[in-house]
Amino acid sequence: MKSINLGILGMGTVASGLISIIEFNNTKIVGNIDKQLVISKVLVKDISKKRSVNLPADTYTTDAYEIINNKDIQIIVELIGGINPAYEYIRNALNNKKHVVTANKALLATHGEELEQLAHINGVRLMYEASVGGGIPIINTITENLSANEFEHIAGIINGTTNYILTQMTENGLEYEQAVKEAQRLGFAEADPSSDVDGDDAAYKIAILSSIAFDQRISVSDIPKEGITKISKEDIIYAKELGYNIKLLASASKSNNEIELRVHPAFVPSDHPLSTVKNEFNAVFLKGNAVGEIMLYGKGAGSLPTGSAVLNDIVSIVKNESRKYAESINADKYKIVNRAYKKYYIRFEVIDKPGVLARIASVFGKNNISLDSVVQRQKNGNNTAPLVFITHDIERKNIDNALKEISNFDCVIQIASIIVVEDF
Ligand code: HSE
Repeated sequence: MKSINLGILGMGTVASGLISIIEFNNTKIVGNIDKQLVISKVLVKDISKKRSVNLPADTYTTDAYEIINNKDIQIIVELIGGINPAYEYIRNALNNKKHVVTANKALLATHGEELEQLAHINGVRLMYEASVGGGIPIINTITENLSANEFEHIAGIINGTTNYILTQMTENGLEYEQAVKEAQRLGFAEADPSSDVDGDDAAYKIAILSSIAFDQRISVSDIPKEGITKISKEDIIYAKELGYNIKLLASASKSNNEIELRVHPAFVPSDHPLSTVKNEFNAVFLKGNAVGEIMLYGKGAGSLPTGSAVLNDIVSIVKNESRKYAESINADKYKIVNRAYKKYYIRFEVIDKPGVLARIASVFGKNNISLDSVVQRQKNGNNTAPLVFITHDIERKNIDNALKEISNFDCVIQIASIIVVEDF
């Protein structure tokens, strides 16, 4: 039987998941592709380190070019992460006419267009199913299974760490800091959780998804982003009372010739399928003009789920080796806009005295902001009170103008939160 030789760059969690699956599902894989997958070489930092997977000692190397320049290796799997040196390794691998499979969201969101063109020029494939949503087959679903659709809307919970934190705040009443510590203890959040909680990770992923869904290269710098660090227990309680859950959404919408993208915490109606996505799970909700609404749900990280996505790319390359892929990305097809025409939840802390609500409401009126509801739960003591407004749809710039004026009022202690309300 013919063999397909793999070179793996990096030996972390995902690589061990991939190697384990190749071992325990070998019969299934061989039955599927009629070829044996062989792990020829693995790039590691330290050859002497003990590992959970069982490979011959001479498989390991500390020299990436022993893999990239190896004539017997057909597919290179990049699992180092980060931009450098992965960028250089992948460029050289593609120029050496090796197929590349990667899970590297930061690299793809930054240099994806160039790398796809390089793959095309060299007649090889660049595959990256594992870069978004871990084990969820979202990229393949968009590019293959739903290829007959024009997409109008994508909304995803594509960061498991933040979803875990928000779920714990919602269901177990944890404060933000407590929930972060719990996520770290369970290994979801890094010691420095900023890439997750500031929204960078989700921004990389929505840049990749929207690029392929809309056939347009979208750079991560096109995406306004806001993380979850300012979400408080009070906001979670108000959201629940109003019939919503707070989720970190990564969204992309296309209408006429415009695309709007965003990563932001949002009120999601409790009866919407995205509201049922809890803890470290991910989900992507899509609207296509033929298929209608569809949602994919699963584990967005972890050794075996992500390894499963990497392996699927390898199988797809082997099955379609002779197929040519023309990636035609038109960077100027759509205009990228940033209007944020949405409903907003705005929570103030104010001095509890007559006329405060009327003063604030009059500034909203002056800025064309129409109000859907006003809620005042309980006094805070010390003569202050929370005051919550839900607006009708309005551009974010009107909200910012109004809040600029309101922030100068003596009766306003603070503008505690501004959160988008998604009604889908
Ligand atoms: N840090 C990511 C998350 C997993 O929390 O979802 C890897 O993409």
